[in-house]
Amino acid sequence: MVDAPIRNRAAAPTDFGSRDYPAALVNVTNACNLRCTHCFVFRDDNPNAPSDKMDDATMLARLAELRDKHNIKSMYFMGGEPMIRKDLVLKGVDMFERSTIVTNGTYGIPSVPGHVVSLSLDGPEHLNDPIRGDGVFAKVKDSVFERKMGDATTVIVQMVVTRQNESGIEEFVEQVKDWPIDGITFTLYVPTRDDDTGLDWLDLADRDVVVDRLIAVKRTYPRLIKAHIPTLEMMKSDVALEHTGQEGENCPLLGTALPLYMGDGGEFERTFCCYGNDVDCARCGSYLVFNAAYHIREGHDPSRWGG
Ligand SMILES: C[S@@+](CC[C@H](N)C(=O)[O-])C[C@H]1O[C@@H](n2cnc3c(N)ncnc32)[C@H](O)[C@@H]1O
Ligand code: SF4
Ligand code: SF4
Repeated sequence: MVDAPIRNRAAAPTDFGSRDYPAALVNVTNACNLRCTHCFVFRDDNPNAPSDKMDDATMLARLAELRDKHNIKSMYFMGGEPMIRKDLVLKGVDMFERSTIVTNGTYGIPSVPGHVVSLSLDGPEHLNDPIRGDGVFAKVKDSVFERKMGDATTVIVQMVVTRQNESGIEEFVEQVKDWPIDGITFTLYVPTRDDDTGLDWLDLADRDVVVDRLIAVKRTYPRLIKAHIPTLEMMKSDVALEHTGQEGENCPLLGTALPLYMGDGGEFERTFCCYGNDVDCARCGSYLVFNAAYHIREGHDPSRWGG
């Protein structure tokens, strides 16, 4: 794939201040071959112009600069679909102590020894495909079974739970539990403030039923399901706002994870948080947020909050 010309390249890289960020995410491209119903990337308020690209050498150099300046240990390679820029991503992963490639799996599963591939599937086939596209479940399943085995790549399947697919949580686990994967994670939908997609629950109390079902599947498959029960308990309506806040004021990711989006002019631009600009913190379902809060409570190293 040939990169489009870079427009209005800024004279100097964007300055994100001087603080440490133990973790960061980078949208290596705004391009994607899918259009999932819940995707935050393509919301109007976010930097997502497909032509705003940075060539591979420049992006790797920028990431190295930012890693050294902000002491970034853990990097999430995302997009759009990061595997559209596979060569870049495969060079980038070894620049960080812990890298995760978050992919839709339609371009195969990369071999990244010592690192993680987070593979997105949103339920059993009959629920996943209306969200991710016809034939996507089968294609991703083929990718999983064709992947290079025993190469020290950790492959985790992630389901984003919304009202569109909540009915399929248990069925999904039954369908993928014998696949050659290292685990399953769940996260709940992150809505916008005036979300009218119908994907979110009426309120946090309404969402509690889903959290209870996740706790139940964790109890059934304690090794396969990677969520921690104490973290899931923190997502419940009686305490969730203590970890997010109405406007993100309690969110542990805001000051510790740097979101690098492809911005205007082909330079990195940061958004309000990893989920973009217009987000409803009071109803945020990001497992990473609650897991970070859990790790803070336990006094763990911030760069290891992903697990
Ligand atoms: C934006 S995608 C980018 C990487 C890749 N294209 C993929 O689908 O995995 C990263 C992850 O965010 C999830 N995601 C997208 N929109 C979301 C939302 N509104 N709330 C929670 N997670 C979301 C996706 O399902 C995916 O697992
Ligand atoms: S594959 Fe990923 S980036 Fe593309 S639309 Fe779906 S969630 Fe968004
Ligand atoms: S939407 Fe979630 S991750 Fe983003 S700032 Fe708000 S609480 Fe944090």
